[in-house]
Amino acid sequence: MASVPSLAATVRRRVSEALSAALPEAGSADPLLRRSDRADFQANGMLALAKQLKGNPRELAAKVVGAIPANDEIRDIEVSGPGFLNITVSDAAVVRTLAARAADDRLGVPYAEHPGTTVIDYSQPNVAKEMHVGHLRSTVIGDAIVHVLEHRGERVIRRHHIGDWGTQFGMLIQYLTEHPTELDHESDASAGTEQGEAAMARLNRLYKSSRALFDSDEKFKARARDRVVQLQAGDEETLALWHKIVDESKTYFQAVYDELDVEIHDADIVGESAYNDDLQQIVKDLEESGVAVRSDGALCVFFDDVKGPDGNPTPLIVQKSNGGFGYAATDLAAIRDRVGRLHADTLLYVVDARQALHFRMVFETAQRAGWLPEGTAKQLAFGTVLGKDGKPFKTREGETIRLVDLLDEATERAAVVVREKAQDLTEEEIQDRAKQVGIGAVKYADLSNSMTRDYVFDLDRMVSLQGDTSVYLQYAYARIRSIFRKAGDHRPAPHPELELAPAERALALHLDEFGDTLAAVAEEYEPHKLAAYLYELASLYSPFYENCPVLKADTDAERENRLFLCDLTARTLHQGMALLGIRTPERL
Ligand code: ARG
Repeated sequence: MASVPSLAATVRRRVSEALSAALPEAGSADPLLRRSDRADFQANGMLALAKQLKGNPRELAAKVVGAIPANDEIRDIEVSGPGFLNITVSDAAVVRTLAARAADDRLGVPYAEHPGTTVIDYSQPNVAKEMHVGHLRSTVIGDAIVHVLEHRGERVIRRHHIGDWGTQFGMLIQYLTEHPTELDHESDASAGTEQGEAAMARLNRLYKSSRALFDSDEKFKARARDRVVQLQAGDEETLALWHKIVDESKTYFQAVYDELDVEIHDADIVGESAYNDDLQQIVKDLEESGVAVRSDGALCVFFDDVKGPDGNPTPLIVQKSNGGFGYAATDLAAIRDRVGRLHADTLLYVVDARQALHFRMVFETAQRAGWLPEGTAKQLAFGTVLGKDGKPFKTREGETIRLVDLLDEATERAAVVVREKAQDLTEEEIQDRAKQVGIGAVKYADLSNSMTRDYVFDLDRMVSLQGDTSVYLQYAYARIRSIFRKAGDHRPAPHPELELAPAERALALHLDEFGDTLAAVAEEYEPHKLAAYLYELASLYSPFYENCPVLKADTDAERENRLFLCDLTARTLHQGMALLGIRTPERL
């Protein structure tokens, strides 16, 4: 396993060294190298430098060129425009770099220099409730970020902060006590999805019946309130029923996760309830340190810049006047646990942007209390999923759309697309591929948008073969694999002595950027940059494939060299898609 510096990094180093050699007074100025259309790379750093040194940028650039020792990486370097450097690398250097990538299982992608511990809070649905598209986003984005960080060698601890606590449980449990058979069912050996859906159906029924009673029967309401107190006091019988409800929900969550093809481990589901025992201490410490103050009986934290529409300050409420704890208290306890006990260097929260104020106040409070070093916590706030009408995605009746229904529909649509194109697939294979295509489409549509943006949930577009979709990428991968079925599966040998056609060069230079892209994605937590990279890769593969015959190449060496590019393209697509949580079937 060897990490391979990208050509960009190599060229940047060479220009940098030349810069310091030619202009010692420049120190270690950044050559500002980037990919360019004119040549392979362009360095613009001489402009700012000339300004700083009060010199002529073209003369300065020429000095730098003169200071680059002869080497077989840079084929051509020239001063252009007001003082840019246009740099073209040699074909041999391109192929040699890619050969080093191909020889490595990680494609030469380096590990982070200083990996740390990240605790990531994502996929946090609520017990006894259906999962909705918001939970889909958190799950899909969180999953991709976990993969990318782990790939870089970061230690990642996952936390699914599920909503498993609160007053509504009093109502549910009380109803269960009075109707003990409500959640019962015949033990069935049905498949996971059905089991999950059946569990959710029972919970829905329980929720509706208890809600109806709660709203209509004052005496039941009072009994439900007492039940909350018993739950908080840890009454055994009450807790047992609470567990029953939570477990039923977990069966449902797990079924959705299976369908979504994401791996969520039970041990990482650490819900709000897990922090119960810490809440008293949190309150005590905040009050003693003066970070929080009593206001009308409630324990509040105030912020100069957070005001309601009436101009009055809106506090973060840590404890309600009736003594109850809310969402904020739990999040504060979770921070203390994650920083203090889990030793996190970074805390991430993949949560809807509409909770931005909550997190801002919670982070600030934790900082004031000394529990959270500044800059450690970050909300990866995502936008809203919209319907085609541009409004938040709801059914016509205004209800939230069930996630399972969406996923089923995506798979059905995908089956149509797969069947249309399928040449030698059995019906079973078609169904199998439909799942990978349908789920991939949903994930990709989410991940290819920058996460802060709202996006329209449009299945027609998501499963389209044209455009920036996962199916397009999956087909590109499958097409390459089919070439290898004809050529015989083997690791093709690169031929650095061959001259590259323009389409080969363009593809090759992009292949070389995989590692740099992953570093940027991990640095900024931006999976959409990986999606964009992969889309561009598939887009560059098409002209290569059209212009550069592979199996019918003129010579054996050329054929092998092109197969080599095909192989590296396929492996890059496969690894990149896997990091996004998307499958790449061998045949489509
Ligand atoms: N359960 C919440 C919801 O469905 C999300 C929880 C986010 N995480 C947290 N630590 N507050 O909106």
